[in-house]
Amino acid sequence: MFPTLSLHSRLAVYIVSGGLSGLGFETVKFISQRGGEYIVILSRSKPKPDVQQEILNVEKQCGNSITSMECDISVSEHVHKVISAINLKFPGCPIRGVFHSAVVLRDGLIETLDRSLYEEVFRPKVNGVLNLHHATQKCELDYFVCYSSISAFLGNPSQTNYAAANTFLDLFCQYRRKLGLPGQSINWGEIICVAEAPAGVLGMHIAQCSWSWYVCMAMLKCAPVFCYRCD
Ligand SMILES: NC(=O)c1ccc[n+]([C@@H]2O[C@H](COP(=O)([O-])OP(=O)(O)OC[C@H]3O[C@@H](n4cnc5c(N)ncnc54)[C@H](OP(=O)(O)O)[C@@H]3O)[C@@H](O)[C@H]2O)c1
Repeated sequence: MFPTLSLHSRLAVYIVSGGLSGLGFETVKFISQRGGEYIVILSRSKPKPDVQQEILNVEKQCGNSITSMECDISVSEHVHKVISAINLKFPGCPIRGVFHSAVVLRDGLIETLDRSLYEEVFRPKVNGVLNLHHATQKCELDYFVCYSSISAFLGNPSQTNYAAANTFLDLFCQYRRKLGLPGQSINWGEIICVAEAPAGVLGMHIAQCSWSWYVCMAMLKCAPVFCYRCD
């Protein structure tokens, strides 16, 4: 049974990087359903009409406000600028949470990957987390959550760049906790974002993520966790 406890404050802003799609958008819905009044999505692009419609549906259902701001989180100036813009747009509503979901994939066996294909994957995850960390230093955050992957510790032959970027997130969250700041990385297993799983893939359906989020946010706020399907 899914408890109905509120996890997010009203009169507070929650940032979701990469929140226009996949797990990021599910996070937007999760925060909305758990009491988050102001949510800001950071993405390099504007929402497409169907996503904008979905955002409106969530706002209507949850009575909250979801704003999408264009921002490349790998660029320090963009992130500092967007944090100032958020503070101006929501006076009296402090930023209380950062959920870092942005990702770019450039898969390939190690011999086919060159430096640029590592850098493209590192940019949103590694530069992104550093920029979000620095730009929110003055915020009193309740959550700083990074979406990592089980590839960070199991490895994956065609995702060495992705595994390395996720390992950075895991260690960076440890570093934040050592500084006395919130920091949690969630090592997700394969998540099936569409209705039907591809043949042979044993993944957690995206609808099943809510319980994992709940446990991560409510009980294991500062602990690293692994979320994967184990049946
Ligand atoms: N899906 C899975 O099975 C799975 C499994 C394990 C872990 N995870 C983790 O969960 C997170 C979400 O994965 P997903 O598959 O749901 O992702 P996704 O649907 O591919 O979404 C990634 C988002 O990141 C945004 N993004 C990329 N670079 C950005 C940048 N520099 N600045 C701002 N936004 C940026 C993209 O939007 P723009 O292009 O508009 O910027 C996009 O909306 C990732 O961190 C991933 O590692 C996912």
